Amino acid sequence: MPDASSSPFSTFDAVVIGAGAAGLFCAGIAGQRGLRVLLLDHGEKVAEKVRISGGGRCNFTNRELDPRAPHKHFLSDNPHFCRSALARHTPADFIGLVQKHRIPFHEKHKGQLFGDHSSDDFIRMLLAECAAGGVTHWQPCTVGGIAANGAGYELQTSRGPVRAGSVVVATGGLSIPKIGATDFGYRVAQQFGLRVVPPRPALVPLTFDGEAWAPFAQLAGLSLPVRIATGEKKERVAFDEDLLFTHRGLSGPAVLQISSYWREGTPIRIDLAPGIDLAAELMQAKARSRRLLANELAQWVPARLAEAWVQQDAAWQRPVNEAGDKALQQLAQRLSNWELVPTGSEGWRKAEVTAGGVDTRELSSQTMESRQPGLYFVGEVVDVTGWLGGYNFQWAWASAHACAQAL
Ligand code: FDA
Repeated sequence: MPDASSSPFSTFDAVVIGAGAAGLFCAGIAGQRGLRVLLLDHGEKVAEKVRISGGGRCNFTNRELDPRAPHKHFLSDNPHFCRSALARHTPADFIGLVQKHRIPFHEKHKGQLFGDHSSDDFIRMLLAECAAGGVTHWQPCTVGGIAANGAGYELQTSRGPVRAGSVVVATGGLSIPKIGATDFGYRVAQQFGLRVVPPRPALVPLTFDGEAWAPFAQLAGLSLPVRIATGEKKERVAFDEDLLFTHRGLSGPAVLQISSYWREGTPIRIDLAPGIDLAAELMQAKARSRRLLANELAQWVPARLAEAWVQQDAAWQRPVNEAGDKALQQLAQRLSNWELVPTGSEGWRKAEVTAGGVDTRELSSQTMESRQPGLYFVGEVVDVTGWLGGYNFQWAWASAHACAQAL
């Protein structure tokens, strides 16, 4: 028998690959349950996405999340998969941990919770939870290969070979490659014969053809509340949020939200004056005013938008009382149902998250274990994508928690 102490392998109960939101949370809980856990990451720094999240303040969860209706706030090819994990680790549970660490926070828009100071508070909290669990942390450390060895797994890493009973893949999605995103998780899934739903950028600004966009490029920086929609009939999805004009297209919460549902070649529809019966308002203005149509319009939409909008048609560049009824109706119709087909999106460079990922039909919704025994996937690498507003972190926490309980 070879002497165990002379083995070249470092031995752990579980190896967690990826020290982002999900990996850190999972490693901490598993360590505190008494498991010998190794957490490793190829990056120099820990949790870079947590650091830049929420404009540097980390929108760490959302109070409005309803785990009984996950399809309301999450996209997936398998919409009910996320329900179990989200119900077993709720926003209230995570808020309890944040309070235990005395991190001050506040609620912003629509249930979104942000730290008062900095995302670093949350990174410190996650690291403290790992330390409390005696987690071994190797960083930077790359994984060259993973092999199943019957009783568990052997990993070749840049810090030497490792043996572990379980492997948790928490390497996130493809967005923002410059801070360390890789396709590692999808490759591991494919290595073990697990399907992957093709990844695509989500929560991403949309872009438009240079020439077609020229009249609107001058509006860059302008923001206004809109109703935005995409899809037909039963598939139709709509959001009431702020829209932001950019040099290359559209952004802001409204567009980020709709981008996750938008499919190439299909239109989006924007009501630039939501809740206002523009046709009726313009007809009334015609009866009482001699001002230019653009000036009248500026009562209901920002003046810069009104000015740019009327440039599209000579019939709109005149005093309102001289405009034809049909021209006014067309103006109202176009503003309240602006239909446009994006050319594309700003892609991985700007996407906040990745839609698609490891197919949830390959995973247990109770534990996140895959059909390959002892191999788990948590967080964004899985085909569960949240809306803007703290939902993606809540999925990272909840999936990591479900996994850590089962290791
Ligand atoms: P995450 O990406 O956090 O971590 C993956 C880790 O794996 C990284 O540390 C990476 O270095 C490592 N890794 C990758 N490949 C590896 C490899 N081959 N070997 C070893 N390690 C590897 N969500 C939200 O709910 N509220 C918010 O406020 C924001 N804000 C926000 C802003 C911006 C600019 C972005 C880009 C994203 C957000 N998000 C967000 C989304 C949120 O950051 C994201 O969903 C979670 O961080 C996902 O957590 P994971 O742990 O799954 O991946």
